[in-house]
Amino acid sequence: PAAEFEKARHRKPMLSLQNSYNAEDILAFDERVKKFADVPQVEYYCEPKYDGLAVELIYEKGYLVQALTRGDGEVGEVITHNIRTVKSVPLQLHTKNPPTLFEVRGEALMLKKDFADLNERQQEAGQMTFANPRNAAAGSLRQLDPRIAAQRPLKFFAYSYGVIEGLELKSQESFVETLTKFGFLTSKIAKTAKSAEEAANYYRAVLSSRHELPFDIDGVVIKVNKISLQDQLGFIARSPRWATAAKFPPEQGETIVEDI
Ligand code: IVH
Repeated sequence: PAAEFEKARHRKPMLSLQNSYNAEDILAFDERVKKFADVPQVEYYCEPKYDGLAVELIYEKGYLVQALTRGDGEVGEVITHNIRTVKSVPLQLHTKNPPTLFEVRGEALMLKKDFADLNERQQEAGQMTFANPRNAAAGSLRQLDPRIAAQRPLKFFAYSYGVIEGLELKSQESFVETLTKFGFLTSKIAKTAKSAEEAANYYRAVLSSRHELPFDIDGVVIKVNKISLQDQLGFIARSPRWATAAKFPPEQGETIVEDI
């Protein structure tokens, strides 16, 4: 019954990313970046593209005060009561000197193993099972009763930000280091790439090892590492010029129709 959720406007809209579909597209993205910024080479920060539910957490003076879903990107649903039950979300930032305002964005998801265990428990209890970890995570956070979310094995991985006051950011890499220090889960497989070729190799490597990851991903995200260069590049329509979501081909499988 999501209709009953309170809504709130994001201080900064939660936008989407332009898509790429292969390593060649990443090289073409790099050409556009270099041409626009008029620079010979660009460093990138490469991360997995989590297949979960985008969430924004708002910290004032170091304390978690509100959590919102992405919603339509402008206005999200207030899910603070459920997010507070997620153990990987710090209720207070792990720092003695917190920024006055810290809006952190990331993905709420369920690890593949936790999802399988949850479905087994649901089945044993005669309750509905979930189609995939993404649906299970989304369904858990869109509950009115936080006791239900508290029983669901949710994790939050941080990777981006909204409005920040009282902290200067230099690069995506150092921002992620700060996130880790503040007590957030961040990706263990994120990497800095000195060039687009290295970023394209990252895409190929993660594509071939995606099944070994403990959570579902549907691609990788390649971001210009330097924040001042990100600011120079700016936005086009509803997405930043400084990042691309390099999507993986959909997973394919075979099935045998045994009877009709
Ligand atoms: S950065 C301006 N990094 O992908 C957008 N997004 O189409 C900045 N996502 O809605 C987003 N993993 O929910 C970013 N490592 C990652 C991500 C990521 C998943 C999602 C995010 C967003 C969508 C972009």
